[in-house]
Amino acid sequence: MSDLNLTAPICTALRHLRPDIKAMAAYTPGEQVRDCIKLNTNECATGPSPAVWTTLANLPRGSDGLRQYPDPSATGLREAAAALYDVTPDQVLAGNGSDDCLTILYRAFLTPGDRVACPWPTYGLYDTLAALQGVEIVHVDYRITPQAWELPEALARQGAKMVLVANPNNPSATLTAVDELRRLAERVDGILVIDEAYNDFAPAGSSMIPYLASHPNVVVLKTFSKSYSLAGARLGLLFGHADLVAELGKVKDSYNVNYITQQLGIVALNDRDHHRDLVRSTIVERQRLERGLAEFGWSWPASAGNFLLCEVGARAGELYLGLKARGLLVRYWDRPGLNTKLRITVGLPAHTDQLLVHLRDLLNRTASC
Ligand SMILES: Cc1ncc(COP(=O)(O)O)c(C=O)c1O
Repeated sequence: MSDLNLTAPICTALRHLRPDIKAMAAYTPGEQVRDCIKLNTNECATGPSPAVWTTLANLPRGSDGLRQYPDPSATGLREAAAALYDVTPDQVLAGNGSDDCLTILYRAFLTPGDRVACPWPTYGLYDTLAALQGVEIVHVDYRITPQAWELPEALARQGAKMVLVANPNNPSATLTAVDELRRLAERVDGILVIDEAYNDFAPAGSSMIPYLASHPNVVVLKTFSKSYSLAGARLGLLFGHADLVAELGKVKDSYNVNYITQQLGIVALNDRDHHRDLVRSTIVERQRLERGLAEFGWSWPASAGNFLLCEVGARAGELYLGLKARGLLVRYWDRPGLNTKLRITVGLPAHTDQLLVHLRDLLNRTASC
């Protein structure tokens, strides 16, 4: 039998790893567990457009779609998105999820020593990408009241080359008005990225896309992971000034959106009825969930997304674990500022019912201990 030390070569390789990568913490995505009621990563419980399934089922066998590389610039998809959002195709870049669009922005704009800023708490990937790019990220606390999370006045004054605002914000689901974002765009001496992952659930008129022409330093991100129910297909879109989008095209991976996803994205975008119904039914269920949770005396800021950030108190961690043991996943962060809260994604009516039954039981047990 060989006495080769199989771990030696990997140790040698690890010695060459960038020290900053070794030192950094990995981004922790929400748990991906099958066969449970999954209310922890803000996917939509209603599936994608039936046209998406038809397209998948009818992908022509023997065609060149899989054998050949996909269209590197996802032309058909960008044309469909441009028509929908009333921009030109050269203002649109497609990404392997909006996370890919974020990576492209960081790589294109930021070099070590630069600074990015975001209101805080927000989407944790902004931090991870800053660490990867060797840039400093400045967190400016939201002005938090029980009903609202307001954008901090000081956000524009951080000397940041790039400012990121998720609108609605994750994890709070709170919305900043476009007028305020336009004022911010005027004050930021750099690029303002508005991450609209949840914007389709917000009232009409909440997107910054119509203001791209008047604010050329603004970039808007959209995702298919939420209101199109295509998180597994990985698709995001970036909207900006055509000159800027052309530069970003140099940074992206050549074939960053695969052939199948490009096809699915086009049919999903074109099925406006399904999209409208999915958004409407999610909002109706969100209101039902809110009525149910009110029974527990919890509060949450007004939600413009498909989730609620509930102020639960000291038992938040225990409730998270109790729900998990019963097959219901919600999101919990054991860190200051968030460790008394649970973020709950809006699911199907049956999910809401189950959640409320189990919460009632868990809370009664805690109370009687
Ligand atoms: C604010 C925000 N932006 C972007 C994303 C990621 O979207 P995608 O699945 O398109 O990468 C998420 C996912 O939860 C999010 O909450």
